[in-house]
Amino acid sequence: MAPLPDAPAGVTPEDETTTLEPKPSSASRTTLSHIVSPQDANLYGTGHGGVVMKLVDDAAAAVAGRHSGGPAVTAAVDELTFLVPARVGDLLHAHAQVNWTGRTSMEIGVRVLAERWNESTPAHHVASAYLTFVAIDPEGRPRPVPPVRPETAEDHRRFREAEIRRTHRLARRRAIQLSRADHEAAEAAG
Ligand SMILES: CC(C)(COP(=O)(O)OP(=O)(O)OC[C@H]1O[C@@H](n2cnc3c(N)ncnc32)[C@H](O)[C@@H]1OP(=O)(O)O)[C@@H](O)C(=O)NCCC(=O)NCCS
Repeated sequence: MAPLPDAPAGVTPEDETTTLEPKPSSASRTTLSHIVSPQDANLYGTGHGGVVMKLVDDAAAAVAGRHSGGPAVTAAVDELTFLVPARVGDLLHAHAQVNWTGRTSMEIGVRVLAERWNESTPAHHVASAYLTFVAIDPEGRPRPVPPVRPETAEDHRRFREAEIRRTHRLARRRAIQLSRADHEAAEAAG
């Protein structure tokens, strides 16, 4: 077996913390809304997934910018689940908040609800997503973000679940690197 490669670039030691004042989850929580128009429909006549994805990314970007106090870019979409289709005429509401913070990165959770624009019927949960944003300085380099301070029991649950996702993401990345190193070693050996 090939030697284990160094920790992947971009992984910050777990004990490295910033000296910025913690910010509560509620300080940057936001909702962004969009009405699904006929132009937003896919070939089946329901809301195009890309429209929901853009709404999710826009809502998450607003939260990341607010929390970090400046520009922040999408580094990864860790998960995006479509639960039920949105329909033309639905009002989509993307509720977003910071779930977890690292040194320069943040996990933003987004829940998208759909309600009929002209009916008082219950909203449907159409999608959920978890995105990693990285705060950047004017040169585009990662810059430290304030630690998030979870407030409610739900915030604490989201924080713990974000840590599980991060642990799994890093483990998967490391396993793939190891597999590639093995593959390259085997290729080199002929
Ligand atoms: C995101 C970006 C700034 C990271 O820059 P980088 O020099 O690779 O960053 P580093 O390796 O120093 O890592 C910085 C942080 O990002 C995190 N990170 C980097 N790549 C990541 C990925 N693919 N998934 C999740 N987190 C990631 C690291 O874990 C680290 O987090 P931490 O500081 O909280 O521990 C850079 O890759 C970039 O500019 N990407 C393009 C972004 C973009 O154009 N988005 C679409 C439009 S907004």
